[in-house]
Amino acid sequence: MKLSIAIDGPAGAGKSTVARAVAARLGLTYLDTGAMYRAITLAGLRRGTDIHDAEALEALTKIVELDIKSDSIGQNIIFMDGENVTEDIRLPIVNRNVSFVARCPQVRKILVDKQRQIGSRGGMVMDGRDIGTIVMPSAEYKFFLNASLTERSRRRLAELSAKGEEFELEQMMQEIAARDKIDSEREVAPLRPAEDAIYLDTTLMTIDAVVDAIVRAVRGEE
Ligand code: DC
Repeated sequence: MKLSIAIDGPAGAGKSTVARAVAARLGLTYLDTGAMYRAITLAGLRRGTDIHDAEALEALTKIVELDIKSDSIGQNIIFMDGENVTEDIRLPIVNRNVSFVARCPQVRKILVDKQRQIGSRGGMVMDGRDIGTIVMPSAEYKFFLNASLTERSRRRLAELSAKGEEFELEQMMQEIAARDKIDSEREVAPLRPAEDAIYLDTTLMTIDAVVDAIVRAVRGEE
């Protein structure tokens, strides 16, 4: 079976871009697990589900049909009940609500089961918050990416600005700090590095440098 790589870390640490590039360089398949929590959040917001009601969220997660495909450059395309929601799951309203959905144990159970099923084939690069600790604890390689709050907020601003959405740095820092807090303090699968994870502070690193560091570590070149 092909090796698998877990990449965890907080919002804006560069996980998705790095994980996708690493998968492409090593001929592995990339799965963005955050996109799954985002799709359930979008479904809930559209249907008027109470995002703080665990039973309602569980019922929602059971009926929403999630399908994840990869495009020609390995980017994940997310389908929710047959609709391509790849763009919509990045909307600011989803950013603001997704941590509440992701802290619900019932939602996590359903999505983690799905992620493990996808991961059981091996050959995966998965990114998220609990990949090295819960979803793929036996992954051959685990990385935990972090960066300063200011740098992570700047990266998110740049991403949004590329889509024509402007935010103040201060506002973005507050939003990201609020999500970090919920993700790190929740009872089930809080954000934390696996004991055997390689920790990378990417504050002063380019994406290419991070990708190189991971690929080199996996190839045993350092
Ligand atoms: O990585 P992201 O910003 O797309 O993640 C969206 C949210 O989902 C974030 O609040 C953390 C949560 N998440 C999680 O709890 N577990 C994962 N494996 C992936 C994401």
